[in-house]
Amino acid sequence: MTLDDITARTLPAKDVFSLSIRALKDHLLEELEKQGTGLKTEIPGERLLIALEPEVASVYCQHLPIEKLQGAGTGFTMSRKGSKFMIVDLGVGTADITVHEKLDGTRLKELCKASGDACGGTSVDNAFYQIFVNIFGVLVMNLLKKKYTSSYMDLFREFETVKRNIKTNTSGKVNFTIPYVVLDQICKEQLNKDFPAILKSSTLADKLSLLGDKIRFDAEFMKSLYKPTIDSIIAHVKDVMRKKEASDVKTFLLVAGFSESPMIQEAVRKAFSAQRVIVPEDSGLSVLKGAVLFGQRPDFISSRIARYTYGVKISEKFDKQKHDEQKRYQIGNTSRCRDIFKSFMKADTSVLAGQKVLQFYNTTTPFQNKMALQVYVTTTENPKYVDDNGCSMLGELDVVVPNPSIEEH
Ligand SMILES: Nc1ncnc2c1ncn2[C@@H]1O[C@H](COP(=O)(O)OP(=O)(O)OP(=O)(O)O)[C@@H](O)[C@H]1O
Ligand SMILES: [Mg+2]
Repeated sequence: MTLDDITARTLPAKDVFSLSIRALKDHLLEELEKQGTGLKTEIPGERLLIALEPEVASVYCQHLPIEKLQGAGTGFTMSRKGSKFMIVDLGVGTADITVHEKLDGTRLKELCKASGDACGGTSVDNAFYQIFVNIFGVLVMNLLKKKYTSSYMDLFREFETVKRNIKTNTSGKVNFTIPYVVLDQICKEQLNKDFPAILKSSTLADKLSLLGDKIRFDAEFMKSLYKPTIDSIIAHVKDVMRKKEASDVKTFLLVAGFSESPMIQEAVRKAFSAQRVIVPEDSGLSVLKGAVLFGQRPDFISSRIARYTYGVKISEKFDKQKHDEQKRYQIGNTSRCRDIFKSFMKADTSVLAGQKVLQFYNTTTPFQNKMALQVYVTTTENPKYVDDNGCSMLGELDVVVPNPSIEEH
């Protein structure tokens, strides 16, 4: 897997992730060193736990006292057995929704799970980017991105600040510092007009004006950039509410970075006035803080819903009624059918944490001494063959047959 940077150069994802983890580790050790803890830098391997973001955000909310759960209201408690809540995780890209039910003690059970596109912070960033494409054209923006990358990044850093501060009651004008000199230069070179002239002739001229090296945007216009994202978050939550597991959910928890936006909080509260919408203190850090709790107690989550149907590629004796002719092959005198998706776990079923599945498979040839078990996944309901649409191989296990014999084993 590779990742692209903004100028479309690629790097292996593994390198990027390794360096990110190293930076975290170095930072931690530096802090500990500063505090004189005398901690050694030998960190044992095999200590990496993968935490699921909405899940650990939910764990975090379980641990907060009521006064730190904004919107909870008096008398509310997260700890009542049987209570259900929906965690709406709004990060960079998607809205990841999980419905949890509280069991005894601190344990949680997952009831359902869904993901919606174009619901995160970047959808608003994209809308903002489109303004500039609208004014200057794709060519200028690409040039800015490629040749003046630091100015391009300044532009988005500025937008990040503006984005965080816009509220439903923001009115008048919103000031915005831009890389004026660079933009002016590119405009002159590429479009034969200076920056102010380009702004004036743009279709958005009535929504913005120049003030020194700042653009002043109409506040209403800036707020309108959130509209498609807000609409898609609300539509997505409504979709999940239509599932039977989620139909009686009365409490929403808004977590992760984008849920800090007052625009988002207010819109969700308004759209779901019959539900209690809770935003935990430090909601942007809820995933991080929850991950720490999860690291200490990985058994917080008692069961989850399988995302996929899992199966193994097998062959069977050929049966004309059941199998397709093109999948037929011969071993000695017997006809067999290849590529059958034999599932051992169905999507959308509840799976206990640590649950084991025991399966038996036979060898197909006499004295066969090893067997390659290919595990496949799919989101389709009843896969027949492993090369059906939507199926993909997860991995392969080499199994040694201990006592090969002439019989099938
Ligand atoms: N106060 C805020 N107001 C508005 N948006 C914010 C605020 N704080 C963070 N964001 C936005 O939230 C997003 C980052 O959220 P978060 O850190 O939860 O993402 P992530 O977990 O890294 O991403 P993902 O889970 O989607 O891969 C960014 O788009 C950022 O602009
Ligand atoms: Mg996230």
